[in-house]
Amino acid sequence: MTRVLAIETSCDETACAVVEDGRRALSDVVSTQIDIHRRWGGVVPELASRNHVVQVMPVVDEALARSGVGPEGLDAVAVTSGPGLVGALLVGVQAAKALALAWGKPLVGVNHLEGHLVAAFLAEVPPAFPYLGLVVSGGHTSLYAAHGFGDYRLLGQTRDDAAGEAFDKGAKLLGLPYPGGVAIDRLAKEGDPAAIRFPKAIVKGADLDFSFSGLKTALLHHVKKHGVPEGPALADLCASYQEAIVRALVEKAFRAARRLQFDRLVLAGGVAANSRLRAAAAARAAEYEGMSVFIPPVRLCTDNAAMIAVAGTHALLRGERAGPDLNADPAWRL
Ligand code: KG4
Ligand code: ZN
Repeated sequence: MTRVLAIETSCDETACAVVEDGRRALSDVVSTQIDIHRRWGGVVPELASRNHVVQVMPVVDEALARSGVGPEGLDAVAVTSGPGLVGALLVGVQAAKALALAWGKPLVGVNHLEGHLVAAFLAEVPPAFPYLGLVVSGGHTSLYAAHGFGDYRLLGQTRDDAAGEAFDKGAKLLGLPYPGGVAIDRLAKEGDPAAIRFPKAIVKGADLDFSFSGLKTALLHHVKKHGVPEGPALADLCASYQEAIVRALVEKAFRAARRLQFDRLVLAGGVAANSRLRAAAAARAAEYEGMSVFIPPVRLCTDNAAMIAVAGTHALLRGERAGPDLNADPAWRL
């Protein structure tokens, strides 16, 4: 049995989890800073770091207490060491280093994107390798071929804004609260996705890449011309904008699956919490015989430490160890 405690502080959630055998979360604690950042309309890096400093040890204590495992029952400490906000990452990295040293346990540095890619292993029915992994979050929109733990190949990514950014910036234009994806998702449920035609968020040529900045500009023009609508018209606008984002994501993912002959697609990252994306991906999969889509429960899609523990467990089993010189790598590419 392998038990790993993981810490995640790459953005605006302070999280800690204890996971057994890379499959079962014994505890999974997430302390969100959404209320702190909301009044600024987005994540303020300095505020994020300061709040991680305040929260990190209480969150670790709570994760340990809820897991029923003491430090002596752990095999390693894993931590997100990149990519993310450098000051935020450093808080988790320093905490993990101190705990690993104090408890005499090995330390493992984990890539945040790998965490998202393997979050589905905490679901009741996990995927099997190989699979196509679509990581869609506030900072990333990347399509990977996942051949095994630690074995990933980047197939395509966004040229400009991430899908989550498209949601967040779009919501800001419409005067909706942060995080915008949640607000648009909720309003869109009442709207008509075919009400307004938005351009396709597709890049010519490099055909597994994404681009969302044109879509954002189209929304800006629409708002400049017609103003921000209210009531049912706002719901229509949200539904149409959301549909354009979802269409691009689903189209690219299935294009890649067909071309590279993958029959499993795993969605991950905060935007995978989007109800329309979940429904559209499932519906599209149903059109292809033998194609299955794995979408983890919402709490595993958004940032959490359990997914970091999954990746950390397999890195540990492969013999990977970080030293006391482990540093935050804000631009770590997977
Ligand atoms: O993975 P995540 O929690 O943090 C990052 O690593 O970025 O993703 C956060 C992003 C935000 O842009 C947020 O608006 C988006 O995920 N998001 C959603 C939904 N819930 C969160 N986007 C669309 N629909 C949702 N229901
Ligand atoms: Zn994330």
